[in-house]
Amino acid sequence: MDPVGSHYPIGVIAVQNPCILVIFGATGDLARRKLYPALYNLAQDQLLPEHFAVVAVGRRAKTAEEAEAEVIESIKAFSRTEYTASEQDREFLKCFHYFQLDFYDSARYSELKSLLDSIDQQCHTQGNRVFFLAVAPEHFAPIVLQLKAHGMAPNQGSQQRVVIEKPFGHDLKSAEELNSVIRSTFAEEQIYRIDHYLGKEMVQNLMVLRFANTLFEPLWNNKYIDHVQITFAETVGVEGRGSYYEKAGALRDMVQNHMLQLLTLIAMEPPVDLDTESIRDEKVKVLRSLKVNPKEVVRGQYGPGVVNGSQVAAYKQEEHVDPNSSVETFVALKAYVENFRWAGVPFYMRTGKRMPQKYSEIVISFKKLPGVLYFKDEKLDPNVLVIRVQPDAGVFFKFNAKKPGTDETIVPVSMDFSESSLAGFNTPEAYERLLYDVMRGESTLFTRWDEVEHAWRFVDPIAAYWKAGGVPVILYPAGSFGPPQADFLIRADGREWHEY
Ligand code: BG6
Repeated sequence: MDPVGSHYPIGVIAVQNPCILVIFGATGDLARRKLYPALYNLAQDQLLPEHFAVVAVGRRAKTAEEAEAEVIESIKAFSRTEYTASEQDREFLKCFHYFQLDFYDSARYSELKSLLDSIDQQCHTQGNRVFFLAVAPEHFAPIVLQLKAHGMAPNQGSQQRVVIEKPFGHDLKSAEELNSVIRSTFAEEQIYRIDHYLGKEMVQNLMVLRFANTLFEPLWNNKYIDHVQITFAETVGVEGRGSYYEKAGALRDMVQNHMLQLLTLIAMEPPVDLDTESIRDEKVKVLRSLKVNPKEVVRGQYGPGVVNGSQVAAYKQEEHVDPNSSVETFVALKAYVENFRWAGVPFYMRTGKRMPQKYSEIVISFKKLPGVLYFKDEKLDPNVLVIRVQPDAGVFFKFNAKKPGTDETIVPVSMDFSESSLAGFNTPEAYERLLYDVMRGESTLFTRWDEVEHAWRFVDPIAAYWKAGGVPVILYPAGSFGPPQADFLIRADGREWHEY
């Protein structure tokens, strides 16, 4: 059985549990852009276990030297700290092993098992494994079944964990099927379903902000909050991922996971404790209370346009995209959390590709004061709390103050906290935190099955309504904030999207 996670804080001590990290998808984008640089930074900060090895499993044949050169190249290109080729760096590279495997070649899995067993002898990793599936989703279940068939998982008497990247299914039914295969091999507490937004510093800060400040929690309800906005804007298009995106679209790619996860952290009740299950229990309650009218959801797709001064092509012209595609690259919706705390408070959400700026933020807009004294003036802005997840992670509180030197002019001013202003703080990448946590068996920042399940229960009716032709996809020019219908959605309620 997997022992319960250890609750020492990140950045303080190295992971105590020895382990082999087995990365399936060694030559893929995720491994190159995120996993190798994250491991390098953990090594720099001396946070990796003392007894540790990486087995990078890829389909292509490669010599050890070629594989190592690729790891170095990816660190140089994507790490937040510079590759120095120091003695420590050489030690770090020594823990890497490359193993060529066709994921469907059953016999080769026995050889993988022998390799892992022999590394256990050399590196004292005690049979502990983290299997990280950084592969296309259709390979998740087959790989898990092979691990089981070859006695690699579950492996009694040692720690076995599996990390699953998104997407976890493409609807509730397929997610249930995938889950049942994984559960046939691993127990729920051994499964780490990734949502990389949970690894972002400011997202982890949300609970602290809410539950460690006298100022916010008493006001965090429908008596004082008028509405909430969540915007995830991206300037990129689909970046060569057309074939994946054609099956996903923005609803499954961003709303089902990252956006709903943030919403749960904003809306959840205080957990009875800070342990993993108490927090997840509260998040699930939010998802179960969440309501949306599928008819009101706005669905957009970018046409050609200009982003950051450059002309870009329409979605339909992207590689591996159907020229008649009706897949959405933009979604805007209004949801309600139907419970005592939030009844009547709209949660407006929008996300899109090819927007004018890249940023993710949460805006808590407080109610106006009664229309007496200064608030007789209709133009006065209400208080707003902006939680900026990226870039420039921080929190801004906008309030009204008298303009100096005038009698009565009131202007909105802002108090801000920026994470980069903390001395010596160099924000760790989300994957550093997530890898660190999985190795130490701490799963709070990963999603439990029922969170995934209820997120699909929210998304599926919207997708079904679209499939039945209920809402047309509306083209918007690349470089804009989506179709005008997204503005109508919020303006119909007498509100405006918060400007970045
Ligand atoms: C991924 C999506 O999960 O998140 C991508 O699949 C998206 O389409 C990305 O671009 C956004 O992540 P971030 O961290 O850049 O905001």
